[in-house]
Amino acid sequence: MARYEITGGNALCGEVTISGAKNAAVAILPAAILVGGKCRVENVPDISDVRILLEILRDLGVDVACPEPGVVELDSTEIKSTTPNPELVRKMRASYYLMGALLSRFGQANVALPGGCNFASRPIDQHIKGFRALGANVEEADDYVNLTSDPETLCGHRVSLDVVSVGATVNIMLAATLLPGQTVIENAAKEPHIVDLANFLNTMGARISGAGTDTVKIKGVEQLFGGTYAIIPDQIEAGTYLAAVAATGGDVLVKNVIPKHMDCITSKLAEMGAEITNFDDAIRVRSSGRLHDTTVKTRPYPGFPTDMQAQICVCMSLAKGVSRLTESVYETRFFGYCTELQSMGAEILINGKTAMITGCERLRGAEVTARDLRAGAALIIAGLAAEGVTTVRNIHFVERGYENIIQKLTALGAQIRRLDD
Ligand code: UD1
Repeated sequence: MARYEITGGNALCGEVTISGAKNAAVAILPAAILVGGKCRVENVPDISDVRILLEILRDLGVDVACPEPGVVELDSTEIKSTTPNPELVRKMRASYYLMGALLSRFGQANVALPGGCNFASRPIDQHIKGFRALGANVEEADDYVNLTSDPETLCGHRVSLDVVSVGATVNIMLAATLLPGQTVIENAAKEPHIVDLANFLNTMGARISGAGTDTVKIKGVEQLFGGTYAIIPDQIEAGTYLAAVAATGGDVLVKNVIPKHMDCITSKLAEMGAEITNFDDAIRVRSSGRLHDTTVKTRPYPGFPTDMQAQICVCMSLAKGVSRLTESVYETRFFGYCTELQSMGAEILINGKTAMITGCERLRGAEVTARDLRAGAALIIAGLAAEGVTTVRNIHFVERGYENIIQKLTALGAQIRRLDD
């Protein structure tokens, strides 16, 4: 099993360019199923989740080409199956977007339950509620979700989500795009990648409005045509580099970001003592590595993202004073990495949804294991800031979502290498 070996203590300095957003890419690539011609998607990150998704799409009959780095061309004219390869589907979370896309285009889909990061129980009842509201018959059996419809029964409808769910919002948007009539999603998620998906679909001919607010309206169209679209930069990848510099100290220009998307993260890092300067499409972060305590509660966008919980926890572990970190999206997320951070010297006390973190002067290197993607990113940050050598195992989680992380960190002066057993 491959692992990362990090020798901590170096300040991070220089420039890093952020890749296309993972969570937008994994929604937009399945959305290409809805397009009746060739579409070109740019700024696609080269990460394992994207590679798996492209394999699933190829296997369904989509013509997929990667003419240059970061560019994928997809032609879904000749799709021959509505049952994606279950083994591949189980390798990632966002494969559930195939349900909405196949249902909209073919009125049916038979999709295995997804895998991916299991840092909490991750129900899909809201996705299913949405499909049913649109007129689909939904059966769940033997780890599959089977969607069928009688001719003429699928049409737009009002869906009010019981919880703000990114996945359900995306899936219902996909499912509704090619249906007759109007769909209204109330209590919709507002994450930047929801807006990105709507922009992609609208570029291809869809009629979606309100993305980025809590009410998204989809007026169904008969078909989508081809076109070219570039994915937005990854908010969480950018946040991870910003947190890494805050924790280790240094001076880095984080390029290819949308500063507005980063406000919820940069405002906290600034509160902790990092110096943040926003430019049009870049953010400079400077830090002495000496941070102050703060209070963070994760929330859906525009709140502080749960996907940054673990990384900010490392900053808190090194900050003077006692910080308070409350998780309100996935309660069990602390368990993916806190024990590992404690083995590096972090003082974390978890009580239900809240962790109290007493900052220490230095963490110390240790052998640690990533249990999910963002936990892995946090352990890398901890290793960069720690005294001595840290080995991070289970790095396939990290490679699911961070493009060229070794090259990017090495260019900033980090001592990190990937080792194969
Ligand atoms: C997406 C992101 C993930 C991020 C999460 C929260 C993608 C591919 N993944 O995951 O990185 O951590 O948003 O920002 O974009 N819920 C239900 N029923 C449902 C769906 C969700 O109860 O049918 C609950 C979940 O248990 C959770 C909350 O709603 O408590 C939010 O989940 P959701 O936004 O759906 O997360 P994902 O789309 O799976």
